[in-house]
Amino acid sequence: MNKTKTAIVFGATSGIGKKLTELLVKDNFIVAITGRRLAKLKELKAQYPNQIIIKKNDIQQVGEVEIVFNEIVRELGEVHLVIHSSGVGEVNTELEWDIENKTIQTNVVGATKVYDLAYNLFEKQQFGHLVGISSIASLRGNREAPSYFASKAYQKSYLESLYIKTKTIKSKKVYVTDIRPGFIDTAMALGDGVFWMVTLEKATKQIYSAINKKKRAAYISKRWRFIAWVLKIVPAQLLKIAT
Ligand SMILES: NC(=O)c1ccc[n+]([C@@H]2O[C@H](COP(=O)([O-])OP(=O)(O)OC[C@H]3O[C@@H](n4cnc5c(N)ncnc54)[C@H](OP(=O)(O)O)[C@@H]3O)[C@@H](O)[C@H]2O)c1
Repeated sequence: MNKTKTAIVFGATSGIGKKLTELLVKDNFIVAITGRRLAKLKELKAQYPNQIIIKKNDIQQVGEVEIVFNEIVRELGEVHLVIHSSGVGEVNTELEWDIENKTIQTNVVGATKVYDLAYNLFEKQQFGHLVGISSIASLRGNREAPSYFASKAYQKSYLESLYIKTKTIKSKKVYVTDIRPGFIDTAMALGDGVFWMVTLEKATKQIYSAINKKKRAAYISKRWRFIAWVLKIVPAQLLKIAT
């Protein structure tokens, strides 16, 4: 008999997290979903009452994140997959502190808490898969949204560190995947220079495939691999002139 597969999705009230939740449900997972907008969580629960557990959660409140995470683990028993999709990003040309601070609290402090809770649980279980959604923005700096780009660089580096750390896990059954989207058609797609935007449908199909293949990192859509290659070698002086 097949064991029930279980997942937690942080940031499932909209966009990528919501769509991935729907794919997981179709794939017979039991999914615990979180986010601040309770009404959105309830909507998803109403659609799939037998496969969804909801927990309202503000990722900036790290003490609360730990309580919610532990409650979910108690309810699910074992957790096979944790997807961290919660995030904020705003253009902030004036470097307003409220925006910088919110970005850091959400994308850096909150994300680290989720990554660590998931990693430690998986180490204890000796199995599990952590998926973070960083960004193509993780590769270089940007004048329009410095804290967003820096927070994504942090996520990329932290996820790589956890990937390297899995070497210390005896079973070799703990996986870490870093998803690096370009532009996906959600509320988040940043700024004026948006290009190669893909539909949420197409993007989440590619993300889900990368998760199933347990890839270490994946660019979404796939052609952003070429932009990534260029970004990694281009000098900062050229970025200053050309972007
Ligand atoms: N769309 C793109 O083009 C793109 C490109 C690269 C990377 N990404 C990354 O993909 C991830 C998902 O973004 P998206 O495009 O799906 O945008 P989205 O539709 O705005 O989704 C963001 C999610 O994050 C949650 N969230 C934000 N602040 C939170 C907080 N304080 N506590 C708990 N949850 C919080 C939101 O839930 P509540 O508001 O209900 O709390 C929502 O579920 C983000 O990390 C983003 O940086 C997106």
